[in-house]
Amino acid sequence: MNGHEAAGDQPDLVAEARFWLEWNTMVAERTHPPVEAAAIAASISPDPDRIAALLARAQTASALTHPAPTTSSGGDLIQVHADAGRFFQSRLDRSWVPAYLAERGLDAALLPTSPWKIGYAPGSWTALTTHLRALGYTDEILLRSGLVAEGRNGRLRDRFRNRLMIPLRRASDRAVVAFTGRRLPGAGDDHGPKYLNSPNTELYVKGHILAGLAEGRRPLESGAQPVLVEGPMDAIAVSIAAPGRYAGVTPCGTALTAEQATALARAADLSEHGIRVALDPDRAGRKAAIEAYARLAQVTGHTTAVTLPDGLDPAGMLEKQGRQQLRNALTSSTRPLAALVVDARIQAWEHDGELDSVETQFAAIRAAAKTIATMPLNDAATQATRVAALFITRYHWHPGEATRELVEAVERYRPAPRKPEPPAARDRTVSLPPQTTTALANATAPHTTHAATPTRAPSPPGSQIRALRQQARRPERD
Ligand code: UTP
Ligand code: MN
Repeated sequence: MNGHEAAGDQPDLVAEARFWLEWNTMVAERTHPPVEAAAIAASISPDPDRIAALLARAQTASALTHPAPTTSSGGDLIQVHADAGRFFQSRLDRSWVPAYLAERGLDAALLPTSPWKIGYAPGSWTALTTHLRALGYTDEILLRSGLVAEGRNGRLRDRFRNRLMIPLRRASDRAVVAFTGRRLPGAGDDHGPKYLNSPNTELYVKGHILAGLAEGRRPLESGAQPVLVEGPMDAIAVSIAAPGRYAGVTPCGTALTAEQATALARAADLSEHGIRVALDPDRAGRKAAIEAYARLAQVTGHTTAVTLPDGLDPAGMLEKQGRQQLRNALTSSTRPLAALVVDARIQAWEHDGELDSVETQFAAIRAAAKTIATMPLNDAATQATRVAALFITRYHWHPGEATRELVEAVERYRPAPRKPEPPAARDRTVSLPPQTTTALANATAPHTTHAATPTRAPSPPGSQIRALRQQARRPERD
């Protein structure tokens, strides 16, 4: 993928200027000559007065030569989000947000060059409502935006109060379609959830937005690798630690959806660069990583899991250990996500870290094979080989037995061919393996399928295997 029109700084500057201009004026980019757009972008600074002056100039210039933007309902909703975002940004200065971000090592997110336009929602019931009404928005639009709600007394009130505000953009045109707001650090649950999200609206369905895709568009187009993380602070941390190399993307605390995976595949060249998954290193994060694998396997064959040390999430690691350490961990504390998925299957049968009976060994290898059967071919081959090696070395299985058990289980659990499936999807799952069988046998049993070496413990006796086979039809643990 290549989003650059030409080499050199100038075209980049113009492209960037156009983006700022859209954000700052909501005037379609074609209405401004690039030279003017570049001038505005180049002179933009974090000083709100200066920005206001530039905006006024841009708006006047545009109003003189161009008709007002369309007022279709979608347009109004997009515009109200842009105005809300500007309002939140204008309240940053007198808030706790800059000091809080600095404390977490995330203050680079406030630089004017950062694509994350963080702001602050004042601790008032009506600040935003009043502001947006003054700009001419009707109560109906305010309610439909989800930024404003009807209170018990029937009056409109701000949804977000005293929160650090992060705009959520859709990837297609980078329009802000929602916000997520973090409460004051140290504030308890009586102040609402730690992160409060916009409700679903006509413009925003939570499961459709992968935050960070819009913000990371340029690095992703230039070959940065996406890193799937749990929350927006983690996404920002990743992008701060390794700008240009990694771009944090996040479903904001929920499971990755098919729509998000598709948006990701559209925004980044996954076939070449793949994706890293750096979800929280706790139980929930591991579960989410395992679930994400199935989705990601639909769009890429290269899915790498990152394990961060000391139970830290990416934002925590940036704060405690700094950029360099986070960058190093993202690069080198990795293994294939497929391995993590398969190991979780095996671990479900372990007692104290061991498969302590022949029966649990069979159950575990079948559970692993069941999962391997659904994997894209390259992951399936690697994982089958790895599992066979594990059973041979750790549990002293006969190589031929390990291979046969895996292959048979893969056969048994291979998803039945469905009705008309798109050929691309069909090609990516294990399509039973004359070649895989051979490859697996070669990889796991280079010398002996006929006899175990004297140092190996004997394989489970044939009668026991047959008995276990008969039990194989019983329901599997998931
Ligand atoms: P975490 O609790 O791990 O949040 O939830 P975090 O990002 O580490 O929070 P910080 O670092 O203290 O700021 C992970 C993600 O789940 C979503 C948010 O997107 C959050 O980033 N979440 C969490 C919610 O939507 N609501 C909540 O109340 C909590
Ligand atoms: Mn976290």
